[in-house]
Amino acid sequence: MNSTIPVPAVVLRIRQVTADTSLLTIRTKFDHPVASLFLPGQFLQLSLPGAGEIPLSYCGSPSSEGDIELCIRHIGHVTTSLKAIVPGSPIGVRGPFGRGFPMSTYAGQDLLLVAGGLGMAPLRSLLLALLKQREFLGRLTLLYGVREIKSLLFLDELLELQREGMIELQVAADHPGHCLDGPPGCRIALLPALLDGLDIDPGHSCAALCGPPVVYPLLVSGLQLLGVPDGRIHLSMERRMKCGVGRCGHCAVGTRLCCVDGPVFSYAELAGLEGALV
Ligand SMILES: Cc1cc2nc3c(=O)[nH]c(=O)nc-3n(C[C@H](O)[C@H](O)[C@H](O)COP(=O)(O)OP(=O)(O)OC[C@H]3O[C@@H](n4cnc5c(N)ncnc54)[C@H](O)[C@@H]3O)c2cc1C
Ligand code: FES
Repeated sequence: MNSTIPVPAVVLRIRQVTADTSLLTIRTKFDHPVASLFLPGQFLQLSLPGAGEIPLSYCGSPSSEGDIELCIRHIGHVTTSLKAIVPGSPIGVRGPFGRGFPMSTYAGQDLLLVAGGLGMAPLRSLLLALLKQREFLGRLTLLYGVREIKSLLFLDELLELQREGMIELQVAADHPGHCLDGPPGCRIALLPALLDGLDIDPGHSCAALCGPPVVYPLLVSGLQLLGVPDGRIHLSMERRMKCGVGRCGHCAVGTRLCCVDGPVFSYAELAGLEGALV
């Protein structure tokens, strides 16, 4: 496979998820690795003719049909240009790139997914992949923190999974007052507070984190306090990246490049690297 050349794709569906975020479903070639052979936490490069190319995390699960789900926050040139696309619009995709979450180590474990803001996009991919092998897993808990309730992504889906007993869900919003229309049990708290006193079996738990780098130190120390070993804490360092292809050096952490060696690392790998979590 030559991942330097974009594979043609067309837009199938666009769903508005929040005021500034959409879920895009695109279809590329049947059984193409860019759609069928990725791990949650990996990313692709999406090119929009006339606008440019951007890295995006996979938000859905692998599909042999060639379908790919992407969650896009419209904030800059390319992402805003993507607002104008309609079903049938042509785009290009390259990938998958990077290292994803270590799914093969999760069998028989309790899983704790911790998402901050748009970090829910790659963790939705992980959640959907885990649900496909639900019978081989123990407890599946999602802790999800946002600034405001109106920024919650995929809330209906998550509440449905909670009702069906497939996941345990806890939601927090940073600011007081914003929980008035929030889901049942929503707390006004910062994301790391959801770890306080959490009932887990640390010897049989793995944690997967994706969110703004500023919350990682508190999340990691909270998980350590609960007894989760460093090698079972996996975090995505995607926010450190710029070019995504190992050229700009923006994502360097010690001797590692997040875009090439990650974006997912275990905390055991990062612990000795200066500046890894700042
Ligand atoms: C591995 C990886 C995975 C990612 N996954 C996702 C994902 O799943 N979903 C997602 O939405 N994003 C994701 N991103 C981020 C996404 O790639 C960027 O949002 C995108 O590249 C921005 O491109 P752009 O052309 O729209 O923005 P640009 O135009 O390049 O703007 C970039 C920044 O400048 C700011 N900016 C732009 N114009 C203005 C202006 N006029 N005034 C003030 N500020 C301005 C924007 O707010 C933005 O912060 C990911 C990034 C990486 C590296
Ligand atoms: S993001 Fe440019 S080198 Fe990694």
